Amino acid sequence: MTSILTSSQNRYLESFRTQQDELISEMETFAHENKIPILSWDAVEFLEQLIKIRKPKRILEIGTAIAYSSIRIARSAGRKCLVHTIEKSANNIKLAKEYISRSGYEDKIEIFEGDAFEVMPQLKKKYDFIFLDADKEDYRRLFDYSLILLKTNGVIFIDNLLWHGYAAVKKVPPNYRNSAKNIREFNHFFMAQPNLHTTILPIGDGIGLGIKK
Ligand SMILES: C[S@@+](CC[C@H](N)C(=O)[O-])C[C@H]1O[C@@H](n2cnc3c(N)ncnc32)[C@H](O)[C@@H]1O
Repeated sequence: MTSILTSSQNRYLESFRTQQDELISEMETFAHENKIPILSWDAVEFLEQLIKIRKPKRILEIGTAIAYSSIRIARSAGRKCLVHTIEKSANNIKLAKEYISRSGYEDKIEIFEGDAFEVMPQLKKKYDFIFLDADKEDYRRLFDYSLILLKTNGVIFIDNLLWHGYAAVKKVPPNYRNSAKNIREFNHFFMAQPNLHTTILPIGDGIGLGIKK
């Protein structure tokens, strides 16, 4: 399973995709060719719309990879927004820096280099919007840190809650079993949060959306 939609539904929706600028298209090709996971086109378009509607000023991303989503967030947010993005892979940090420099959003995006488990406890100022997109087995603990850093009425956006469709089925290939189990447990935990209005939307690979009460 790679998509939660049928291939004809996917093709149909993709036919409406807006043309992206050259840098964004290059990053999509690079990520695809180098097997670097980035937000799917429909999830990132939804994220951009949400950012335009909500207009968050302070945004935290956990999991930069090559800064594809960071750049798309920065270009959708207002002029005065700040995107802080955490990444632990030295190789991805190098690539992300190059792409951010080419994007012209260096003044809006700051990479916090290191493991989110070490970086997040050091952050003191809260955020209007948090995008959690790190290793799936760490979601639960990174979510706990995220809640501490999220302002009241702030939004948390979490990718991969359908986990390629495997969260919803019993027959899962061995290499997906552990992560599918982690995601299923996380989904129960997320949907039972008393301090959040939560939903899981069938967009991309499944988006968890929470608003802090
Ligand atoms: C799915 S990719 C992020 C994709 C990116 N948000 C996008 O859509 O363009 C996940 C990234 O999170 C990083 N990561 C995973 N766990 C992390 C952690 N605990 N601290 C910092 N970075 C982490 C990985 O190195 C990887 O680059």
